[in-house]
Formats: sequence, structure tokens, C-alpha cells
Amino acid sequence: MAVIVKNNVFILETKNTHYVLGVDDYGYNHHLHWGKKCNADDYFVEKIGDENSNHTMLDEFKQEYTFFGSTVYRECDLKVEFSDKCREINVKYLGYEAEDNLLKLHFADNHYPLEITLNYQIFDGLDIISRWITLKNTGSESIVAERLFCAEFSFPSVKPYTFKNTNGAWGGEFLQTSNVLDGGSLVFESRKGISSHTNSPYFIAHQNADEKSGDVYFGAFAYSGNFKVSASRDLYGITRTSIGFNDFDFEYCLKGGETFESPKVFCGLTQGFGEMSRQMNKFAVDYVFPKQFNDKPLPVLYNSWEAVWFDVNSENQSALAKLAADMGVELFVMDDGWFSKRNDDHAGLGDWFVNKDKFPNGLGDLIKNVNDLGMDFGIWVEPEMVNADSDLFRAHPDWAYHYDTRMASELRNQLVLNMTRRDVQEYIFNLLDDLLSNNNIKYIKWDMNRPLSETGAENLDYPKMIWYLHTKAVYDIVDRLKEKHPEVAFESCASGGGRSDIGALQHYDQVWTSDNTDAIDRMVIQKGFSMLRPLKAMRAWVTDIEGINKPASLDFRFNIAMQGALGIGGNLTKYSSGDLEICKKNIALYKKIRSLVQFGNLYRILDIDEDEVLMNQYVNDDKTKSVVFIAANGTRFYKKRIPLRFDGLDKDKCYTFEFDGEIIVKSGAYLMEVGISAHIRGVNYNRILILEEK
Ligand code: DGJ
Repeated sequence: MAVIVKNNVFILETKNTHYVLGVDDYGYNHHLHWGKKCNADDYFVEKIGDENSNHTMLDEFKQEYTFFGSTVYRECDLKVEFSDKCREINVKYLGYEAEDNLLKLHFADNHYPLEITLNYQIFDGLDIISRWITLKNTGSESIVAERLFCAEFSFPSVKPYTFKNTNGAWGGEFLQTSNVLDGGSLVFESRKGISSHTNSPYFIAHQNADEKSGDVYFGAFAYSGNFKVSASRDLYGITRTSIGFNDFDFEYCLKGGETFESPKVFCGLTQGFGEMSRQMNKFAVDYVFPKQFNDKPLPVLYNSWEAVWFDVNSENQSALAKLAADMGVELFVMDDGWFSKRNDDHAGLGDWFVNKDKFPNGLGDLIKNVNDLGMDFGIWVEPEMVNADSDLFRAHPDWAYHYDTRMASELRNQLVLNMTRRDVQEYIFNLLDDLLSNNNIKYIKWDMNRPLSETGAENLDYPKMIWYLHTKAVYDIVDRLKEKHPEVAFESCASGGGRSDIGALQHYDQVWTSDNTDAIDRMVIQKGFSMLRPLKAMRAWVTDIEGINKPASLDFRFNIAMQGALGIGGNLTKYSSGDLEICKKNIALYKKIRSLVQFGNLYRILDIDEDEVLMNQYVNDDKTKSVVFIAANGTRFYKKRIPLRFDGLDKDKCYTFEFDGEIIVKSGAYLMEVGISAHIRGVNYNRILILEEK
């Protein structure tokens, strides 16, 4: 692990890879290699000339970061307008700084007062590199960026790469897609103001890789707003990807003397998709999550939403809390409906005072009740939003994004507050600060139920900055609240998984995955989530949705929800005593295995769609313990016994576990090579095997 510098060549040596870049005599930055380690002395910066008058060297060679200007015709990463309207960047190389695991290459425009730094950081024991850029305006006149990507990547093979991403929607997040990029370009993006339910802010590029083998190149943009991943392949077979802010309706004004540090891109190269996901989960725990809770297992929570919807009140919450505590829940979260005139989604957002009809004595009694039952208390808020039917909107109609000449779209009957305004930011900070200061609240579920639209913001000199400033304001408020109330955990929710990216997880401790809590659908949703989002943060509830297409027993629903951060969301007052016992048994089991699930190494062994059986195994770092989840909802063609081979174990260790009443004692080698055979028939097949070293 080191940053190695050889003249004008820079080698980022990760656990298994070399990422190599260089600078030539003209100040151009070159991408030289991303792959297996080679002899450091062999790397050099090739001299490249124009191919012919139509195909320029600037368009062809692999760059680390491409500036708009001169004869660059392909996708570029940075395009700015200087005060005299010149829109070209032309840089010289100023030098580098390399210390420990950090590398910085400094460039400056040859004429204008703009300095650009390419930053890189590597991490012990991982193949992950963090990349970002810094822009500094050393003059006095503003410089306005109209395109700002944060990193560019080139891949080594001239054969086409396949790009994995997601193409989801509300209720169907993280559904995976696969596109071969032969020529032209591929774009994955969001224009909604949040990273959205649709595409994911990352790239995964490979050539016939699978879970266990094949080069997998990936990069996740740590940003929850409008993003763009733009990949292309040229005539010479070079595949490139740029990733950063969406240039749709974008501008960033860098005033004289200002510096801008971009969000980071966490990229890596692993063998197989499984190793990619495992490294990202570890990386997130150690380097991404806010520090208060990163190394602590998340508590088992109860959430009131699907039990009573908006109809929360002192009695029903107390009744649910009692039942939740009895079954072992550690955190009781009251969802939407507790404030103002919030009886449905038509009114109340913005008026964050307790509804006295529902809670005559305020929140205090309920919170005390919950605490006396041994649980922490959490609460739902949606701070970026306002209903037209609210005192807040009546007092401050100008606080919502709007154009005087346009009708504002009221999605879910709500408008988006102009988060770029200082007074709005202070209002939101103060209301949440008061809520946390006056009540023993340990958990905030921060929801966001509609995308931005009609984004007029009269307060901005550069109105297209709203997209960036909105996201920044959300992050800043959460960070300030966390600083003042370090004992409070935050969850990012946006109508399910609409803001569940790795950028959100630099500020929030966990995310709500999907409003679709149907365990059958969740098998697919959670697999998509696990690719490049950390499982530690994935909230999963057991609810009363028994399976829209096929029934799912309570045990089956637990099996699926226990593969993330477990929550309960059913109407417990309607449960039979038998059902309550099933919940209790499963929660106790989850507490035994949750460290393995949240901090362990996930091996995705069988896929419900491809194999009719889901088999996921989580193994701890020293391979002494493991938990295996197996679930199926009916297999076809009279399949009798299905061989289940394990993964991630130490072949030389001996493991013991119980399977269908039988105690099995076998070596890791046997379990991984031969495995066990299971009779998987009928609906609701679910097993949880706990392996321990003998
Ligand atoms: C959408 C969230 O995803 C749900 O979990 C719930 O909190 C509702 N909003 C409340 O309005």
C-alpha cells in the first residue's frame, strides 16, 4: 500500500492493484494503467501526436481528467466560462504532493486565475481509491462552471465492456440492468434533485465477470443530488466513464478567492461482484458512515407506518410499543401523522407542532412510556417540504421554490421548500434542534416524498446552482444537528430508497430501502441494493404485506428482513399470541447474528430469479462464524434435492451447524466444494443456518 512517485509517473498501489497516472511535458494528465501490479519502473508517459486532422491526440489518449477546449470533441469533465466569456481551459502542471496514502496533482490555467487539483486517496487493506477535484479561483472575477464531473476513468481492454446499473422506480428500487457499450455512449442519471429510485450514481464495468471472478471496475459518486454517469467507447476501442454532477440545468459559480472541493468518487477494481460489494461494505463502515454509529450494530426498530398509517395517537402508539418491547424491539419509531392537521397527506407539512387531539399531553408521555419499556424513541419528519394547507405556507408562500408565472406542481399535495435560503435553513435547523432538545428522541427518520420542480429561487444570482445548494443544505443541516445531538441517529428516506446513495451515508447512519416491504419482491430489491450500497445501512422491515403475488409466512418475512438492519412494521395489535412468539424468537435470533450481517462479508450464492432459491451467506473476518439464509417460494419441475454449496469459509477449518434437526460437522473445504443437499419444495421454504468453527 503506497503512493509511489517515479519522475512524472504516479502509482497508487492498493492491496491487489496498480492505478497509474502521469503528466507529460505539456502539462497533460495521462491515465496509464488500472489493473494488476506491474514493475513500477516499466510505467512511462507515451508521447502522442495527432492521428490526422480529424482525429486529434486530445480526443484519443486516456486522460485522468479532461478539460474542455482546443481539439477535445468527446465528453469532457470541466467546462467553465471566465469573466471575458472565454470558455476554454488550457493548463500547465504545477507539481504534486504525496504523503502517506494521499496524492495531489496541481494544475493551473495558463492565462486565467483558476487552479485545479486532482486528488487521490488509498486505503489500507482495500482496493478502493477515493478521487475528487478541487477548484480554486485565485483572481477576483467569478468563474462559472457549466459542467463539473469529479473523475474520469478509462478501462484497459479494447473490447466492449458491459455496464451494470439500476433501472428502478418507487416500490421497485435497485432493479439491476446490464448494457453492453459497443459504441456511442451510455448515460445513467438523475434530474430529480435526489439520487432517485431510478438509476444509481455509480458505474460497474466488466467483461463477463460474475460473483466470484473477472475484473470488475466500479466507482460510486458520493452525492445525493442530480448526478450523471456518462460512458463511451471510441473507434480505437477505448471505453471511458466520467462521473459527477449532472450538467442538465447546472452551473456553479466560483467567486474570486473561493475554493470548491467536489464530492468524492469511491472507485475500485476487484475480482468478481461479490468482492466489490464486500469491499464497499467495509469501506463504508470504516471511512464513510458518520462516526457515532459506524462501528455499532443498528438496533432492531419498530415503525408505525404500515400499522396505522397517518392515524397515530397516544393510545395506539402505546399499545404497539408495549407489544414491540415484549418481543425484543430496541427502538420505537413513530412515523407520519403526529403533528398539526396531519390526518392524511393533504395538510400539515411545515407545522411541526404536536397534534393535541392525538397527543393531549404532548409527546412526553409517549416517550416516557417507550423509555420505561426499555426502548429508545424515534420520530418521522419531512423537513424539506410544506403543504399548501399549512400555517407555514400561509405565512411564507415565498419559501417554496416557485416562478411567479408558473403553477407549482403539488406532488403528494406538497411543495418543496427553497432550501437555498438562509432563513429556511435556520427554520428547519431550529425546529429540529428544539424537537431534539425538548424530547428524549434518539432517532430521526428524515423523509422526502417528491422530486423538485419549478425550481425558481429568486435569492440566487446563479439560479441553476439550486440543485447543488439544495443537497448541500440538507447535508449541512443533518451535520449540524448531529454535532449538537451526537446521541441521535439519522435515517435517510425518500419515498423508500430515493436517497439511499453512498453520499447520503456520509451524513445519515442508515437508509430506508423501499416502501415495497413484500418479502418476495424484497429478495430482488435487496440484492440490487447490496451491489454498491453498504448492507450495514439497509433497513428492512417485517410487515403485514404477505406477498402480493405469493403468500409469505411470518418466518419467511423475517428470513428476508434479517438480511439487513431488521425492523418490524406490522400491526402487532392484530397478531395472534403464536405470531407474537414467532416475532420474539426471530428477534432473539437476529440479535445473535446481526454483527455477522451488518459487518460481515456477504457471499451471494444463489439468486431467486436465476436459481429459484435465494442463498446468501455472511462470514466474519476471521472465518470462525457464518450465517446462511436460504429462501424459496416454490421450485418447479419436481426438483428433489438441490445441492447448496457454501462460500467464504476457511477450507482448513471445521464447522458445525444444525440443518433440519441434524447436527452437521464438516470442513470448510467440504462445505464449499460438496456442500449439503436440501429438499426445497413448496412455498415459504426458509432456513437460517449458523455455522461456528468447531
Ligand atoms: C414514505 C416513506 O417511505 C414511508 O416509510 C413513510 O414514512 C411515509 N413516507 C410517510 O408519509
